[in-house]
Amino acid sequence: MTDFQAPKGVPDYLPPDSAQFVAVRDGLLEQARRAGYGHIELPIFEDTGLFARGVGESTDVVSKEMYTFADRGNRSVTLRPEGTAGVMRAVIEHGLDRGPLPVKLCYAGPFFRYERPQAGRYRQLQQVGVEAIGVDDPALDAEVIAVADAGFRSLGLEGFRLEITSLGDETCRPLYRELLQDFLFKLDLDEETRRRAELNPLRVLDDKRPHIREMTADAPVMLDHLSDVAKQHFDAVLAHLDALGVPYEINPRLVRGLDYYTKTTFEFVHDGLGAQSGIGGGGRYDGLMRQLGGKDLSGIGFGLGVDRTLLALKAEGKTVGDTRRVDVFCVPLGEQAKAQLVVVAARLRAAGVRVDMAYGDRGVKGAMRAADRSGAAIALVVGDGEIEAGTVKVKDLATGEQVDVAADDIQTAVLTRLG
Ligand code: HAM
Repeated sequence: MTDFQAPKGVPDYLPPDSAQFVAVRDGLLEQARRAGYGHIELPIFEDTGLFARGVGESTDVVSKEMYTFADRGNRSVTLRPEGTAGVMRAVIEHGLDRGPLPVKLCYAGPFFRYERPQAGRYRQLQQVGVEAIGVDDPALDAEVIAVADAGFRSLGLEGFRLEITSLGDETCRPLYRELLQDFLFKLDLDEETRRRAELNPLRVLDDKRPHIREMTADAPVMLDHLSDVAKQHFDAVLAHLDALGVPYEINPRLVRGLDYYTKTTFEFVHDGLGAQSGIGGGGRYDGLMRQLGGKDLSGIGFGLGVDRTLLALKAEGKTVGDTRRVDVFCVPLGEQAKAQLVVVAARLRAAGVRVDMAYGDRGVKGAMRAADRSGAAIALVVGDGEIEAGTVKVKDLATGEQVDVAADDIQTAVLTRLG
């Protein structure tokens, strides 16, 4: 037992695996950039009220999972549990909605939820997200979904599916809510579930307990009660996805953990992950901006779980990214050799080659072991013999072959070998 451990439920990503974490995050972001989303760097903590109002008081995220504390000025602040509310706050505060619409933004980083830690469920989780604000066009919904789909596929991920539904709009949603409540209030529900049915009846459909599942099997679903406008929007989104070749499954009982969703709502699910199978999710949130004190503009976005995507890739036996730390490893045998190789290393780095070297005079055996572990393709070895001859020994670490190269030609020789 060491004196300190990372907080419970918070993962460390260490080399060489951390290279895969970076590759997943950057791979997902790359697809957003290709579709014109500009980077937004958000505060890690915000006014607590932003999340309470934006995400919804009745959600687990707000009522049970927020890291909320008073700062030294006695303001209540909260570590961000998700990104959408913060993006909306920034868009309103800086008047980005006065420019061309949609405002398209992407972000990546840590979020914080005090959940019960288990495999794939962390208290500090990492997401890549996008938000497109100000245009209520089904083609934009399809773009957002296609960007996520392309992101996962670009990493080589295969065993996932997209579940999609519509949660209706402000005309059909209240009517459906009443219909669902009428249905739920007739059931023999325990106290807490009944309270949930009053506060947010949709959430009862998400209850995983078998007896509740059974009781709600015939509950009315939003998809059967959409307004004409919401229905047309949903049909158009599906037509775009068909044209794009993005496969989906309609799941009329899909419920998300955040309250702001309207119309198109979706989740990416991977079956290799056990209980925590959601690798990403999102949807429209057409009332959110107004609710946060801004204009009445629509919005749509997603949040993709970087940690879970990494686990899903592992479950599929796939690795991404370059886990080799360097291309070249220098092994100096003696002080004079070290002085020479320090300069060679710096020059190669300036030419774009990744170079490390053995420090601390641990002998040739230890140095060669370090060279192997570094993932380098080539070792450069200099001892007294090489100094006298004015050469550097270039060793191919995969085959073990080695040749002597004139010290002056070393850069060209390395660059040629690395291709
Ligand atoms: P969310 O579904 O709460 O949506 O989170 C998005 C993704 O983050 C999940 O699908 C999952 O992969 C990952 N995730 C969430 N919680 C955890 C956890 N405790 N441990 C590991 N991974 C986790 C949102 O956050 C919305 N802001 C997405 C959005 C953007 N909707 C519209 N725009």
